[in-house]
Amino acid sequence: MLDVQTATAHPAVTRREDYRPPDWQVPEIALDLDLDPASTRVNATLNVVRTSAHDRPLVLDGAGQTPLSVKVDGVAINDWRIEEDALVIPLSGSAHVIETEVEIAPDRNTQLMGLYASGGNLCTQCEAEGFRRITFFPDRPDVLTRYKVRMAADKARFPVLLANGDPVGAGDLGDGRHWAEWHDPYPKPCYLFAMVAGDLVANRATFITRSGRQVALGIWVRPADLPKTAHAIEALKTSMKWDEDVYGREYDLDVFNIVAVDDFNFGAMENKGLNIFNSRYILADAETATDYDFDAIAAVVAHEYFHNWSGNRVTCRDWFQLSLKEGFTVFRDQSFSADQGSAAVKRIEDVRGLRAAQFPEDSGPLAHAIRPDAYLEISNFYTATIYNKGAEVIRMMATMLGPKQFRAATDLYFDRFDGTAATCEDFVACMEEGGGIDLTQFRLWYSQAGTPRVSASLTHEPGSGRAVLKLAQRMPPTPGQPDKKPMVLPLKLKLFGAETAQPIGSEQLILLSDAEEQISFETVTERPVLSINRGFSAPVIVETDRSAADLAFLSAHDDDPFARYEAMQQLMLDTLVEGAKHGQADHAAVIAAVANTLQDPHLDSAFIAEAVLLPSDSFIGDQMALVDPEAIFRAREALRRDLGRALEAQWRAAYDGARAAKFEYSPSAKGQRRLKTVALGYIAASGAVDAASLAFGQFEAADNMTDRQGALTTLVSGNAPERIAALDIFYNRYSDNALVLDKWFSTQALSARDDTLAMVTELARHRDFTLANPNRARALVGAFSVNQRAFNQASGEGYRFVADQLIALDKLNPQTAAKLIPPLGRWRRFDEARAAMMRAELERIVATPGLSKDMFEQASRSLA
Ligand code: PHE
Ligand code: ZN
Repeated sequence: MLDVQTATAHPAVTRREDYRPPDWQVPEIALDLDLDPASTRVNATLNVVRTSAHDRPLVLDGAGQTPLSVKVDGVAINDWRIEEDALVIPLSGSAHVIETEVEIAPDRNTQLMGLYASGGNLCTQCEAEGFRRITFFPDRPDVLTRYKVRMAADKARFPVLLANGDPVGAGDLGDGRHWAEWHDPYPKPCYLFAMVAGDLVANRATFITRSGRQVALGIWVRPADLPKTAHAIEALKTSMKWDEDVYGREYDLDVFNIVAVDDFNFGAMENKGLNIFNSRYILADAETATDYDFDAIAAVVAHEYFHNWSGNRVTCRDWFQLSLKEGFTVFRDQSFSADQGSAAVKRIEDVRGLRAAQFPEDSGPLAHAIRPDAYLEISNFYTATIYNKGAEVIRMMATMLGPKQFRAATDLYFDRFDGTAATCEDFVACMEEGGGIDLTQFRLWYSQAGTPRVSASLTHEPGSGRAVLKLAQRMPPTPGQPDKKPMVLPLKLKLFGAETAQPIGSEQLILLSDAEEQISFETVTERPVLSINRGFSAPVIVETDRSAADLAFLSAHDDDPFARYEAMQQLMLDTLVEGAKHGQADHAAVIAAVANTLQDPHLDSAFIAEAVLLPSDSFIGDQMALVDPEAIFRAREALRRDLGRALEAQWRAAYDGARAAKFEYSPSAKGQRRLKTVALGYIAASGAVDAASLAFGQFEAADNMTDRQGALTTLVSGNAPERIAALDIFYNRYSDNALVLDKWFSTQALSARDDTLAMVTELARHRDFTLANPNRARALVGAFSVNQRAFNQASGEGYRFVADQLIALDKLNPQTAAKLIPPLGRWRRFDEARAAMMRAELERIVATPGLSKDMFEQASRSLA
């Protein structure tokens, strides 16, 4: 429990049910920024309008500033006051013009919220509540404003001045300074405000929209990075076309700019007409970016672009509706990526991500619904639940409606709510109306946290030819939600004949909505095998009584690729949990199934690579009541070794077959590279004497980062002398490339070696390590804390290391620090000794003087 001392410093809770429309609207703002890293003057002129017959003053949010001056209707006033950081101005009329002036210091802004300096340039980040750090304003998404922005800055240091909307003027000021003015015709909430001042160059392109509007595209980077922007430009054009084709959504300004910055708390930001990106989601070439990076860049470019409609044209009424824009936009970017390559492999990757990040959240102390009810700090709710489970909820509605009706429903949503700040309820109502279905019970997905568990048991009477499927659902309790109602679970299922390996009937979509249900199948003449939750149609955990033989059968014969993958995963998981519990397990079924997959001529390399990969340590842990990290590690290593040995010839054949020619970024070349490195991992696991030299050969000969980092990953978990050699070569080759150095840090933090903590502690003192850069902090501390065995080593030193780093990071950047708390919050899943040590670290964090509310919320909730 929280002690009194911290409870008195307790920040205020914001509750969804307390929502009230704004007292004042601000139809227009003129912002004048006199830019300088050490001291920037911000003059804001707001047209404010009273929204109803109330007598409440104007309250403008702020963040610690005091105004240098306040004017009302052109006259300086003194009867303003500051209350909890907000500027309160008594006003008599129904409409006024308010002018404020403040001074801020971008170069001392380490939180990276508001206006800050990155790599010598100036940029902004306003979502969720950063605009109040730039000027006094009603910082809430339901206040929509037309912006005019004028910037002035030193011309040599900041030759480029960008803001939202269209450029309307620029000129010299004579004293070495210059100015530029931008107007955004679309009213927007202040979280979408952005400006950039810097020494940047653009990769320019043109996109013609389907109605013939010519859009000037620009991706702005440091001059040296220009050659690494080609992939992002292509992705942007492809996304713009896709949104026209698939959702009928066209771009609406003459300019679309993206700026890449090195210091960024998240992935990227969808500011209207001026997206700002973490440079890791823009910069790519074969030498420095992996296939995974290339894919992520396309996905994030698409995501931010798609926000122009799902987020900007239709925005959120309040931050409890965050999933309205994020869940829907993730669903849109996932569909986009699926259309660019293998849809099956994309679905496998997305489900793997959901299980790695969202399922643990849903089963831990920070569990929350996709539309939460309360928060202390909204930044803590940019979670896998809001984003990825939110996307699954949209996907389920899309599945239930079917493609045509879903499109009709999204058209209705965009038309009805264009230019407004909407709610999740508005979206669901459009799904009902456009799709002609009743989603009353389905709405529970918005309010109930936790991952549903579905049990499925199929019986068959050979005599009558009748098969009966018994389904039951169970919703686990989560903090604040002890009892839950049954949900609507759309489950795709199909039966296969065990002898003929042929489908029995076609795929059905079942809507499981009661706690228990039975489904009967007639004229089933051979023993049926159940394929369920095909395509992962519902984000649930399915428990079945299917035998190892049935899972192996499905892994070979199911006609849904996701279901094949899933059957293999389940077979592997059952074997690994058995091995972790008993110190040994029979590996024969997994070996046979993997062998079969490797030799199936109908499967492509990318799918094979996913299917033969063992579940992660942490996902195995999630299946167990108590996580034993050492036992899990040993069980997994043992299975890897046996697979490596038993199938050594096949791995070598796969490896050799996948030694592609020159680098090419195509789905098939990517698949080959993926399979090659997976095979290399198994060859190394087999203990083959030449494994290290094979890996080192791949490392040295690689003409792309996927192969090079893949080989490095293999070496870094082993004991061969090539390990140090490769790390040194890698470091020296890329010491001036921050994004690649991040890989150097994270690859070591993820190592399976016994001395990983010692290496990581050493790396935290490396001259290239800094907590000031979020990517670097995540590459070392974030990666280490998801290395289940190293982080949870019995001494507790892993916990201490992470807590030390997070306490230090919180002083610089609370948002990024708070995001790294969840691994420590998993204490309930571990034995008493570990749990006590994890709690002690969380308590130490909570007791730290001057702790941010971001960290306070995450750490104190994690203790509850
Ligand atoms: N809205 C951004 C996105 O998902 C994420 C983000 C949130 C970025 C907060 C920065 C700050 O596209
Ligand atoms: Zn988003």
